[in-house]
Amino acid sequence: MLELKNVRKTFFRRTINEKKALDGISLKVAPGDFITVIGGNGAGKSTALNLIAGVYPIDSGAILIDGKNVTRQPDYKRAAYVGRVFQDPMMGTAADMEIEENLAMAYRRGKRRGLSWGVTHKEKEIYHEALKTLELGLEERMTARVGLLSGGQRQALTLLMATLQKPKVLLLDEHTAALDPKTAAKVLHLTEELVGKHQLTSLMVTHNMKDAIRLGNRLIMMHEGQIIYDVAGEAKKKLKVADLMAKFEEASGGEFANDRMMLA
Ligand SMILES: Nc1ncnc2c1ncn2[C@@H]1O[C@H](COP(=O)(O)OP(=O)(O)OP(=O)(O)O)[C@@H](O)[C@H]1O
Ligand SMILES: [Mg+2]
Repeated sequence: MLELKNVRKTFFRRTINEKKALDGISLKVAPGDFITVIGGNGAGKSTALNLIAGVYPIDSGAILIDGKNVTRQPDYKRAAYVGRVFQDPMMGTAADMEIEENLAMAYRRGKRRGLSWGVTHKEKEIYHEALKTLELGLEERMTARVGLLSGGQRQALTLLMATLQKPKVLLLDEHTAALDPKTAAKVLHLTEELVGKHQLTSLMVTHNMKDAIRLGNRLIMMHEGQIIYDVAGEAKKKLKVADLMAKFEEASGGEFANDRMMLA
């Protein structure tokens, strides 16, 4: 469903600030794979997701989604079939628009028709049913402005929007990191449900090693722009946090004590 072939990305190339963010990443993702992604600060996790979404052009290599080479396709075109949720709950939704208008934007993504005809009755029914599954009571507030919602509610809504038109690839970049623990657990649970229900091919970045082990069927660890560990199936299920810490320590040569992944 997704393939990265030796993808490289350097920011500020040939300047004093040159930063090699991805140093030749190759990855083959099968349909329905749910991959958790861990790694220290600056390892290249967000960059990898941004490149899959088409936010920046890559320096070399290739990206294929569902067998199609999308390397040169811009992000707004990929948005029709790549769903994403960021860390910041403010980013995935439009605060000044109503809940149902936000859902309509997501529902019509990649289709020609804009918002000009308003939200139809039939659509309202679809959104009502979808919102119910969140169990946050948002289905009773469909014309409320999204800016009135809490961070957790907005993140749940963003997740729903990202999966409303079953995406070929779902990208989650620490999407629960800015939420309080209880809300984070709720949104994580919702993630599992939505991914499971639609069998979504997903990549989820987290700095929580327990979550990385518990969720998904495959785990990759990144370090300095490379994938240094890739484990799936039974071997992944047997992993312990201590195993991941040992891997990480080995890769980083002990310079990990202050890393967010460790602190978590
Ligand atoms: N838009 C950008 N412009 C310049 N440098 C960037 C940009 N995005 C990322 N980088 C750099 O690329 C490297 C990888 O960053 P990235 O954000 O992918 O790391 P990360 O693994 O997501 O880290 P974190 O856990 O802190 O979120 C870092 O050195 C970062 O400073
Ligand atoms: Mg990041």
